[in-house]
Amino acid sequence: MTKAEEKIQELIEKRAEARLGGGEKAIEKQHARGKYTARERIAQLLDEGSFEELDMFVTHRCTNFGQDKKHFLGDGVVTGYGTIDGRLVYVFAQDFTVFGGSLSETMAQKICKVMDLAMKMGAPVIGLNDSGGARIQEGINALAGYAEIFERNILASGVVPQISAILGPCAGGAVYSPALTDFTIMTKGISYMFLTGPTVVKTVTGEDVTQEQLGGASVHSTKSGVTHFAAEDGEEALKIIRQLMSYIPQNNLEETPLQECNDPIDRYADELNSIIPDSVKRSYDMYDVISAIVDNGEFLEVQRDYAKNIIIGFARMNGQAVGVVANQPKVLAGVLDSNASRKGARFVRFCDAFNIPLVTLVDVPGFLPGTGQEYNGVILHGAKLLYAYGEATVPKVTVTLRKSYGGSHIVMSCKQLRGDMNYAWPTAEIAVMGAEGAVGVLYAKDLKAAADPAALKKEKEDEYTKLFANPYQAAKYGYIDDVIEPRNTRFRVIRALQMLATKKETNPAKKHGNIPL
Ligand code: HXC
Repeated sequence: MTKAEEKIQELIEKRAEARLGGGEKAIEKQHARGKYTARERIAQLLDEGSFEELDMFVTHRCTNFGQDKKHFLGDGVVTGYGTIDGRLVYVFAQDFTVFGGSLSETMAQKICKVMDLAMKMGAPVIGLNDSGGARIQEGINALAGYAEIFERNILASGVVPQISAILGPCAGGAVYSPALTDFTIMTKGISYMFLTGPTVVKTVTGEDVTQEQLGGASVHSTKSGVTHFAAEDGEEALKIIRQLMSYIPQNNLEETPLQECNDPIDRYADELNSIIPDSVKRSYDMYDVISAIVDNGEFLEVQRDYAKNIIIGFARMNGQAVGVVANQPKVLAGVLDSNASRKGARFVRFCDAFNIPLVTLVDVPGFLPGTGQEYNGVILHGAKLLYAYGEATVPKVTVTLRKSYGGSHIVMSCKQLRGDMNYAWPTAEIAVMGAEGAVGVLYAKDLKAAADPAALKKEKEDEYTKLFANPYQAAKYGYIDDVIEPRNTRFRVIRALQMLATKKETNPAKKHGNIPL
């Protein structure tokens, strides 16, 4: 063997060692936990053979607690770049087989390197998290490493898409990196996120909770809204990332990739002409409307199990990715509350940051009244959605299907919030409030004095309904651009999006606004 050949052999061996992470035993343990290794995950996520690994030979520099005798090539994270459907992405995958994926100073440097590259190249960053948190032996250096990552998450926000999968533990301050990113995907039964674990919770509050009850995927996808997707397992989580990527651009200066559309743009959805029930008290399923109007009925819903009174997600219309925001009359009559407002606002801002047009489907009776909501700050939360729509400069197409009352009418992308095309179905009711509420206020005294209050109430409600429970009052003033036949909604929305494709609108120059957080 020549010297050069020996050196090449050494490289091959070192690479093989690095690829084993924490070693065969640790890999077996990882599999026994029902989890894949970092490299297996990357292989599942990216296009086959596209991964280029960086910093394979990095090791930690810590000498405390005998760490100088324990080194693993690559330390606790695998980093690099590759492609998803041919498009460049940067990836880091924490390697639980090395010190439980805990974050060291050098590991943070590896992660920061790919984040910096992503910013220079204008490409998304995908983080696969599976870690015991800050590497305890490294003390403040591990914390500093986290802070370096957080700062980059913040600076990258709104510039390149950032996606986090939680595929194992994610505890302590470590949860803030995923929280700062655009989308978080958790795996059911295997991953958890919390600021303090069950032991500390027990000491401080006396509460007895399991990790799953405290911060499992089921909690964060239904109660807290921290996660956007709850996948059945790690493989599904990575599939969701690939799907998600297909709707979003590489960065804030690019448009979303157009896909070929084989669904005719002028396809009538006849069922929509009869979907609105005669009685205002009866509901229908907004999912039926969404799937009837988007390309091939395909809809990638975000936060499906959280604040179900509003629906958000991605679809395509004539191959163009759109963000859909829709009230769901089947849940709480589609009312807006604090959680629905926050859910909608964050999604609208994501779409606006990344040039994804917004299609808003409105059927909203108002904001949920009561002390529960008021004490919870519904004023501020509702204002978030208002702010998000009002500042958004992407094409905004709104269709009002039925109710659109009061403040919630304004919030849901009305004309004066710079809605570009505002359509209404003939069944729309655009007014300050519903007939019952309005008559109760306007005729309170008369109703008290009336010999037959029920008859008077009905008479006045009918009068109000005739005058206001329609789209023509709003159309008369140009607040509604056209009243459209429901079955033709797909065509009209697509035509509007085509017309708006070259839209240019800017907001006043400022450092940043002060969204009511
Ligand atoms: C160093 C760690 C570690 C850590 C795990 N390991 N967490 N090493 N620092 N933070 C090591 C373990 O010692 C073990 O090493 C290996 O990783 C695998 O861990 P196990 O405990 O065997 O795995 P498991 O039973 O699956 O339990 C996983 C775990 C548990 C739940 C994550 O390890 C755990 O509770 N770790 C501590 C979590 C924590 O409190 N972290 C600090 C959070 S505060 P061996 O050699 O035995 O295989 C924080 C602050 C961030 O992160 C602040 C940012 C601003």
